Amino acid sequence: MFTNSVVSYPNRGNFGNNRYRGNCTGHIIVDLIETYLPAGGLFVDPAIGGGTSLDVANSMGIRYFCTDLHQGFDLVKDDLAKTVGEQADLVFFHAPYANMVVYSGHMWGKRGEPHEGDLSRMNDEQFVAALQVCLFNISDSVKPGGHYGVLMGNQRRKGQYINWSSLVERLAPDPLVDEIIKIQHNCVSDSTQYQQKKLVRIAHEKLLVFKKRPESDVLTWLHHDHEALRISVTQGIERAIRRILQCASFTSEQLVGLILARAPHYSKSLILKVLKECPYIIYDNGYFRLK
Ligand SMILES: C[S@@+](CC[C@H](N)C(=O)[O-])C[C@H]1O[C@@H](n2cnc3c(N)ncnc32)[C@H](O)[C@@H]1O
Repeated sequence: MFTNSVVSYPNRGNFGNNRYRGNCTGHIIVDLIETYLPAGGLFVDPAIGGGTSLDVANSMGIRYFCTDLHQGFDLVKDDLAKTVGEQADLVFFHAPYANMVVYSGHMWGKRGEPHEGDLSRMNDEQFVAALQVCLFNISDSVKPGGHYGVLMGNQRRKGQYINWSSLVERLAPDPLVDEIIKIQHNCVSDSTQYQQKKLVRIAHEKLLVFKKRPESDVLTWLHHDHEALRISVTQGIERAIRRILQCASFTSEQLVGLILARAPHYSKSLILKVLKECPYIIYDNGYFRLK
């Protein structure tokens, strides 16, 4: 059971195939189940890889449903709830970390032949879109009040830090209730990526736990997302104006001109509305300045 938001399991335990690339320790799944699965509840893993969660579930004697793309189930295309036959109390999803480890045609399937649904065979844009579809699918497969945990690591690529776990947090349609930081042991990248370079070693993954909102589905999410976007555009303008006014005072014409010269997709009327309603600035002698 989780008692701390930072966990470390130096031994992965005798669960699943430890030679399956990207496999995880079974101990984190044991802790997840002990923390979130109610007695008699159903545990689901739609991407079991080398079968770690399957072995964990068997050893704990719980009800479970475990599958993977290599078993014919595609989380990007197939409805998880329908495939399982009932809603789950807890879902564990250990997704590929984008293309860090390639699965179809490499870990399974015909050598060199990618599977079109394989999340690890997509470019970044396709991966982000498919990951969100997977999260919607998982959310809809969980009982209201139930939980799903997504284990995700971050990546360094050509000097850039790609924060896939933050992305999961933004893409999931339900509220985050726990963030478990798992210290990584024995990574393949330890021996390759960091040997000669002066780079900070990425030594953690995150297990993000979400609680399924009652009465929510993808259309509720779509409605809220539109509202959030509208608010974020207005907030963006307001915060930019506050920053600009830290440097000097401006007339409304000057401010509008400054913004539209570099960000022409904003509307003049919206900028003027934000100027009028912003509680942090005042109009003084024809000029706007910070209060
Ligand atoms: C990080 S691995 C899971 C490792 C597993 N937790 C273990 O300990 O062995 C990710 C898995 O996602 C699977 N996968 C990729 N795309 C998928 C999809 N569209 N639907 C279901 N599984 C998928 C891959 O086949 C791979 O086994």
